[in-house]
Amino acid sequence: MKVFVLNGPNLNLLGDREPEIYGTQTLDDVEEMCRAKASELGMDIDFRHTNFEGELVEWLQDARTSAAGVVLNPAALGHYSLALVDAITAAQVPVVEVHISNIYAREDWRSKSVISPVAYGVISGLGTQGYVLALEALNVVLSDEGGDEGGDDE
Ligand code: DQA
Repeated sequence: MKVFVLNGPNLNLLGDREPEIYGTQTLDDVEEMCRAKASELGMDIDFRHTNFEGELVEWLQDARTSAAGVVLNPAALGHYSLALVDAITAAQVPVVEVHISNIYAREDWRSKSVISPVAYGVISGLGTQGYVLALEALNVVLSDEGGDEGGDDE
């Protein structure tokens, strides 16, 4: 099972960037954690970072045919990119939105994510563990053949 783990602008600075908010782990450390969890789950991950919106859009377009699901930290693009909203909608695979920090406990402008309504689920504020939890969630969703869409079960 192939899963994309996609990272948006400035996440390459993890470790250096505002460690009091994002912690001291680097993006390489996050990749290592994801790889360890993926191998435990028997998942094949493609871990990528870009600072460019269009590249993220292209990767989400690829996910449509090349991935069973996506873990996406859109970084600041999540707050305003309608191109990402369209790309996630078109991808037609479950996309779990991850934010390392709690976007609801910071500046007002961060508390709005335009992509959350089209994400399968959202993890925010659990640190880099959020990526691992997102992989676990995708594993459950994707292994459950008759799985229901979204989290609005009765
Ligand atoms: C972030 C939160 C965003 O508001 C911010 O722009 C980021 C990182 C996070 O992981 O907490 O770059 O997505």
